[in-house]
Amino acid sequence: MAESKSIISFLTVCCFILPTLLFAAIEEEPHKEEFNEELLLKPLPDRKVLAHFHFDSKAFSSSSNGGYHLHLFPKAIYQLVHKFHIKEMELSFTQGRWNYERWGGFDPVSSSNAKPPGVELWAVFDAPPSQVDALWKNLTHTLSGLFCASINFLESSTTYSAPDWGFRASSGNLRYGSLPREAVCTENLTPWLKLLPCRDKAGLAELMDRPSIYRGFYHSQRLHLVSSGFGSDRVDSKIELEQTLTVVLQPTTLRWAKSYTPGSGMQPNWSISTVFGRKINKKCVLAKSSNLYLQLDRGLVSELKNKGTDSDSATAESSITNPLFELSSTPQKVIREVDNLKDEESSILYMFDIDKFADAKPFDLAFSWKLPVVWTCSKAPLLANRFLMGSGNERGAIVISLKSVGHRPSLVGTGASEDRCKLHINVFQVVPWYVKVYYHTLRIYIDGQVQSAANVTRKMRVSPSEDKVSSGVLELALTLPCSMKSAALSLDFDKGFLHIDEYPPDANQGFDIPSALISFPDFHSSLNFAEDSSVSPILSRLQKRSPALAYTEVLLVPLTTPDFSMPYNVITITCTVFALYFGSLLNVLRRRADEEERLLEERGKYIITCLLSGITNM
Ligand SMILES: *[C@@H]1O[C@H](CO)[C@@H](O)[C@H](O)[C@H]1NC(C)=O
Ligand SMILES: *[C@@H]1O[C@H](CO)[C@@H](O)[C@H](O)[C@H]1NC(C)=O
Ligand SMILES: *[C@@H]1O[C@H](CO)[C@@H](O)[C@H](O)[C@H]1NC(C)=O
Repeated sequence: MAESKSIISFLTVCCFILPTLLFAAIEEEPHKEEFNEELLLKPLPDRKVLAHFHFDSKAFSSSSNGGYHLHLFPKAIYQLVHKFHIKEMELSFTQGRWNYERWGGFDPVSSSNAKPPGVELWAVFDAPPSQVDALWKNLTHTLSGLFCASINFLESSTTYSAPDWGFRASSGNLRYGSLPREAVCTENLTPWLKLLPCRDKAGLAELMDRPSIYRGFYHSQRLHLVSSGFGSDRVDSKIELEQTLTVVLQPTTLRWAKSYTPGSGMQPNWSISTVFGRKINKKCVLAKSSNLYLQLDRGLVSELKNKGTDSDSATAESSITNPLFELSSTPQKVIREVDNLKDEESSILYMFDIDKFADAKPFDLAFSWKLPVVWTCSKAPLLANRFLMGSGNERGAIVISLKSVGHRPSLVGTGASEDRCKLHINVFQVVPWYVKVYYHTLRIYIDGQVQSAANVTRKMRVSPSEDKVSSGVLELALTLPCSMKSAALSLDFDKGFLHIDEYPPDANQGFDIPSALISFPDFHSSLNFAEDSSVSPILSRLQKRSPALAYTEVLLVPLTTPDFSMPYNVITITCTVFALYFGSLLNVLRRRADEEERLLEERGKYIITCLLSGITNM
């Protein structure tokens, strides 16, 4: 009896008391994890709309809560950080090229989300330099499995590099690799969405209708990871995961296409449902905040001021009743940029809290233009392009051309007078080993005149490529005069030969040279708001000072390729010759002349009888 009683009491403990204790334990730790979802929409000058999804997950661990207990934060990412000692990592999948001229190159969204086509991966490890390469290799394999992409090709030492300062400041623990040929599709988006607590079943991610977002002009999916205090013995540690999806879409409706006349400057009216084909149903309940922002560019705000004919235009441009456009809902908050340089307008953000708007019925924000409007986005001081010169299969040259866009001298960091004003730029370029670059042939032209390299280079680091072992890296810090109109850098190269099994499939298409990166260390793109940025991760991201960056095009180099169809041709022609030879030989040997004659005779007789019977029947 006593035994059964003790069993019953044990069961009670198991079934009732333990679960309540567990629940209590979960309730006690409200600040261990955090998730926020946000969407930034921005009309672009060329009748397109930029949509920038921003999902932010954080996990904290301190001595008091004893390690990580993850409910919202993806466990796969925690294991990645833990296993490979990652301090910072960024992975992006991009399709299309960011149009720096039309969509802007000098704002926080473009400097952190305009990425080179294909896959780009970089990581900073919290490990001794001797282990970094091994960790990188294992990391590429893990990511490749996690995101269903061929990131494992970055494992080979010919595809990644260890930049010193040209990419970002590092202390030997940074590795950088890119795969320009990688095709990006839904199979890469699905695992990325699985890292979100609500996936794409609720919240803003529900808008990601695959046909609409892949129809866009530019598509970049990015994952940025920062961890602190992880590898060390310190007890307080933190992991921050930022997932962004940046798409540029064209909201063309049939009605707009009918009424559109070129040159009128009339912009299409759009709404969330016409851009994505869906509405926002509800917020993700696990998210701490769920907001939608509509950003008006500086150029657009100044147009707004010009159009505002009434005297109180200063108030009109921040209210939603204005002469230029109309919003279907009144925003909760209007956030203005502050602290901007005097000679420019400041941009405006309209904030909508999804929780309030998507309460009773699905939320759809419509934006309609009342007047034609033309504006431009703020550009980086130089527009960068890259192209190939030369012809034939032996040698060629890579040229990076930089064109001035007529920037304002007040923005230049040195702040000196116009004649002494200098523009600092960094160039980072990785070249695969089969393009053998002669770095001593570097020529720098400013306004068409050759300059001595010593006059314009501040710093230079070259690590030449080694055949089948490593790719060549060029890091260059240049000081250019502000008054220049254009500059060009040229490098000569020889084309190498690959071994027959090193050729990729479809080698006749050519070989890609990854994008070069041009950065402007004195030009920091950030927007400052009076608003407390801690409430919203996207606002704090926009306020973060980051140098303006520009990626150039991917180059396609045709190399000598063996004729892979030749063995097939040889086999076919040999077989044909053999077939003809043996066929006719056998025919001749086996033919019996008299038998053939008899056959012919019989056939002749048969035809005659047929004809005769035909005549008699008539
Ligand atoms: C990388 O993976 C291999 C194979 O799984 C393993 O043997 C090796 O220890 C790993 N290296 C590091 C640095 O984790
Ligand atoms: C956009 O909406 C406004 C106001 O509703 C309307 O006057 C205008 O004709 C619309 N434009 C187009 C191109 O449909
Ligand atoms: C280098 O700069 C000096 C002074 O700024 C100038 O006199 C000289 O002509 C420049 N050299 C070249 C090759 O441009």
